[in-house]
Amino acid sequence: MSSLRRFAPPFVSLLLAASACGPGARPEVSAAPQPPAASASASGHHPLVHRFEKADEWVSVFDDPARDAWQRPSEVVARMQIADGSTVADLGTGTGYFVPYLSRAVGERGHVLALDIEPDMVRYVKERAAREKLANVEARVVPLDGPGLEAASVDRVLVADTWHHIPERGAYVKKLRDALRAGGAVFVVDYTLESKMGPPKQHRLAPEQVVAELEAGGLKAEILKEDLPEQYVVRGAR
Ligand SMILES: C[S@@+](CC[C@H](N)C(=O)[O-])C[C@H]1O[C@@H](n2cnc3c(N)ncnc32)[C@H](O)[C@@H]1O
Repeated sequence: MSSLRRFAPPFVSLLLAASACGPGARPEVSAAPQPPAASASASGHHPLVHRFEKADEWVSVFDDPARDAWQRPSEVVARMQIADGSTVADLGTGTGYFVPYLSRAVGERGHVLALDIEPDMVRYVKERAAREKLANVEARVVPLDGPGLEAASVDRVLVADTWHHIPERGAYVKKLRDALRAGGAVFVVDYTLESKMGPPKQHRLAPEQVVAELEAGGLKAEILKEDLPEQYVVRGAR
């Protein structure tokens, strides 16, 4: 039995016990060297600067089939109103949990750009796309402080369970805004303050704060209506 399996309680208990981040953190994470403490931003929020270095250690968490029940990826992607043939970036793609859904949504003529700061996550998503025959997916390593996208090059950006990791979000929003085509939008999906899963409370962001951050960066933002039990969705439109 692997150490992961030996330590892994049922998925929800794992989430309740989480001390790091993600859909749930593996118990090993709390015993691992901790990332440097991030300083609070002007808003008082403490961004969770946490490394996800080895994809193979996270795939059982991020791609746990039990996650679908509360993450509701089809609903998230439906809320994004993705047009056939469009270009969508998945910022902080991780192991590419959302990538198959996005790939279907953009269709054969469209493109999915799977972006992450971790080279091993990008390696994993490249292999996943090949294995799952997702020919419209391109995975790229990006810097911590920007999505590395050309101006006016994408129609949608999904930021799932990742926005609270980004330290300088004020400057980051402006880079996202510049990367959007006319009619484009960013969708931030993150944990509610009340959720029984997700990162520790001091690392969470209220949806109203995300709206304010997107607005300050020049996007027209609103909290969307959805049926996610643990999370909210904020849209920031160009
Ligand atoms: C909790 S995981 C979420 C993965 C995926 N979105 C999902 O929902 O399964 C956060 C991911 O964001 C990545 N990440 C953190 N900061 C980032 C940044 N500034 N730019 C791009 N990716 C980032 C991490 O490496 C990690 O893979």
